Amino acid sequence: MNTYAQKLIKNDKTNQKTKVREFIFSYVKNCNKVVGLAGPNINKYIDFCKSKGLNSVTIYEKDMDVCKTQIISLKHQNIKIINGDINSTIVNPGTFYDLDYCCTMINVHDKISKFRSNYAITLALRPFGKQKTISQFFKSMEESLCHEKEVNLPIKHTVYTTVTGNKYICAVYRDSSAMCCITKIN
Ligand SMILES: C[S@@+](CC[C@H](N)C(=O)[O-])C[C@H]1O[C@@H](n2cnc3c(N)ncnc32)[C@H](O)[C@@H]1O
Repeated sequence: MNTYAQKLIKNDKTNQKTKVREFIFSYVKNCNKVVGLAGPNINKYIDFCKSKGLNSVTIYEKDMDVCKTQIISLKHQNIKIINGDINSTIVNPGTFYDLDYCCTMINVHDKISKFRSNYAITLALRPFGKQKTISQFFKSMEESLCHEKEVNLPIKHTVYTTVTGNKYICAVYRDSSAMCCITKIN
């Protein structure tokens, strides 16, 4: 059953993810290519990337069934779809890596350090919570935190500064469960 209340909750969650994604992508600089994870709604995802000036799109998908759905439903031309692990990609300058994994930090802690800039990582917060997820993230990136600040606008997020002077932002939103999206902003 799809009650009015259920629709409102679903719309609110969609809006939260949209707002976070808009905010995170507002920090994309000097990139016209994206390597990302599109999931089943591949056309919507590519529309979004192109609207941000990311005109060369490579999609990784490790799930063969989702990959088949992507290939069948793809409406865009010149899109590379790779049935494989995005963590095996070669990191190139001028490319933004949109790592919308939706898994926990535990699943990727030993794979993400090769992404040094121009990336966003989306992680599930359950069962570890934000604090543990963030501290594992900085451990994986071989960074030590020295300052953190809560900011409310344009959306609620945390700005982290590391001892090396690097700055990261993290925004939390609710999808099917609590998620966070982290990007490096310098
Ligand atoms: C959350 S969905 C992507 C949603 C999309 N970014 C959007 O905004 O609509 C994540 C997709 O990436 C796939 N995936 C997760 N981790 C992956 C990995 N390491 N390599 C390749 N595909 C992966 C999942 O199977 C899933 O289809």
